[in-house]
Amino acid sequence: MSVECEASVRSARRADVPPLTDLRVGYLAEMARLEPRLRLLPDVRERTVHALPVWIDQDDRILIVAEVPGVLWGYAPGVATVWPPILRNQHVGEVSELYVHPDARGRGVGRLLLARLTAALRDLGAVVLRAPVPVGNHDSLTRFGAIGYRPLQLVLQRSLEED
Ligand SMILES: CC(C)(COP(=O)(O)OP(=O)(O)OC[C@H]1O[C@@H](n2cnc3c(N)ncnc32)[C@H](O)[C@@H]1OP(=O)(O)O)[C@@H](O)C(=O)NCCC(=O)NCCS
Repeated sequence: MSVECEASVRSARRADVPPLTDLRVGYLAEMARLEPRLRLLPDVRERTVHALPVWIDQDDRILIVAEVPGVLWGYAPGVATVWPPILRNQHVGEVSELYVHPDARGRGVGRLLLARLTAALRDLGAVVLRAPVPVGNHDSLTRFGAIGYRPLQLVLQRSLEED
């Protein structure tokens, strides 16, 4: 059952970069725990500090944050692309990441972030949404499946180091 969410959502600003960096490093670390093949470089924090202002400034990117006054609870970046360019109707809105701080989960923040990101991607011309999700993230696969997302392609991987 839905409850009214205490958080509000808006586009990220440059002043959000420090708390957003903490959230994103939290997201990436959580994904790496679920899928060890997605393990992180040691300088992931510095890379994130540099990437976020670029995302904020790019016209084809969206970066939504959820906040209660003074605190960011989550974020959702997306990008509008045409992929692959040889197929029809492939104006894609990618839900690149979606993250809510563990202490703020289960209150509708994720739903609110995704709704705002979806609307913004539609405004940029997207006709389909895609979300890359690690195969080990069963919770996320279940949630996306419940709201109509279906597998399109599997990215297969094998190691060359063990040959
Ligand atoms: C996924 C995530 C963003 C959800 O955030 P949240 O704020 O806790 O989610 P919400 O409270 O908005 O709940 C969203 C919906 O999921 C439902 N839900 C909650 N737990 C669920 C579960 N285990 N399986 C299926 N649905 C579930 C809720 O009931 C709600 O549905 P509703 O809109 O019908 O009420 C959060 O758990 C997270 O950051 N996880 C780690 C990162 C991650 O996996 N991101 C996903 C992209 S890879």
